Amino acid sequence: MKILLFGKGGQVGWELQRSLAPLGELVALDFDSTDFHADFTRPAGLVDTVRAVAPDVIVNAAAHTAVDKAESEPELVATLNAEAPRVLAAEAAARGAWLVHYSTDYVFDGSGSVARTEDAPTGPLSVYGRTKLDGEQHIRASGCRHLILRTSWVYAARGGNFARTMLKLAAERDALKVIDDQWGAPTGADLLADITAHAIRAAASEPALAGTYHAVAAGETTWHRYASMVIEWARAQGLPVKVAPGAVQAVPTTEFPTPARRPLNSRLDTSKLRRSFGLTLPPWEAGVHRMLREVYNK
Ligand SMILES: NC(=O)c1ccc[n+]([C@@H]2O[C@H](COP(=O)([O-])OP(=O)(O)OC[C@H]3O[C@@H](n4cnc5c(N)ncnc54)[C@H](OP(=O)(O)O)[C@@H]3O)[C@@H](O)[C@H]2O)c1
Repeated sequence: MKILLFGKGGQVGWELQRSLAPLGELVALDFDSTDFHADFTRPAGLVDTVRAVAPDVIVNAAAHTAVDKAESEPELVATLNAEAPRVLAAEAAARGAWLVHYSTDYVFDGSGSVARTEDAPTGPLSVYGRTKLDGEQHIRASGCRHLILRTSWVYAARGGNFARTMLKLAAERDALKVIDDQWGAPTGADLLADITAHAIRAAASEPALAGTYHAVAAGETTWHRYASMVIEWARAQGLPVKVAPGAVQAVPTTEFPTPARRPLNSRLDTSKLRRSFGLTLPPWEAGVHRMLREVYNK
């Protein structure tokens, strides 16, 4: 199996380089790769790359993911998140290749408190969410064999992440305010990459598995609960924590106005993924603890 990976340096792309390697020959690219054109700001050039590499599977982990910045540069975001996937999907369809693509809880409006299934009505609140939904729709319309994995609240040991930011603030401040009315599941890039590899292997021998899936860790939390868990872990480990127990204050989203609106309910129902691929999704806390131990060498 030959796999062409875009976005190899991102959170998910980095882990995909590990998880996809045993499946076959892997050609992994980023926007500044010199061997092949992989800059999504010029999507038309991606056609030549796909034709030159001639992959059986294209995995697209590249995207414009700066949700607030996206509000002020909607055309660029649409090029990266919708037009580039459209070009890749057309090329995948033409050559009978699979396209694996990632999407987001931000395609939903976040109303209610129920976990959404894959066919729940969409209603993005932001430029990022709208362009990611457009990308999904282009892929489905192309007729290519595809796996679209919608995920949420992605973190990785490599680079910055929410938990590290909270621990930095907790070491500097006496008190913290963290949003407590957005619900979702923090999902490790490593878990997502492993799910992707399993799904590709299964779908390669059972093409009827093509489709859209929700792929997040099990359980649910808020940013406030997530931050509190991480800070108490750090305290128990003897890491520097200035913020007193109980001084992490829960506040509503309205207290931190941002350019992009975010869904309050990002709960995603993963039954379809677990049933279709025979996978178990670990609780979100397990992945976060593992990441913390890795980052802080504990
Ligand atoms: N992060 C989340 O919380 C989250 C939640 C739901 C869904 N997702 C989806 O999951 C997927 C992976 O996200 P992630 O967290 O791994 O994102 P990420 O860390 O921001 O990585 C995005 C990748 O896209 C690359 N990229 C940026 N501009 C590009 C361009 N012009 N041409 C080609 N590549 C370009 C980046 O390269 P550089 O690093 O070199 O800029 C990076 O490798 C995306 O589809 C995202 O929408 C993410």
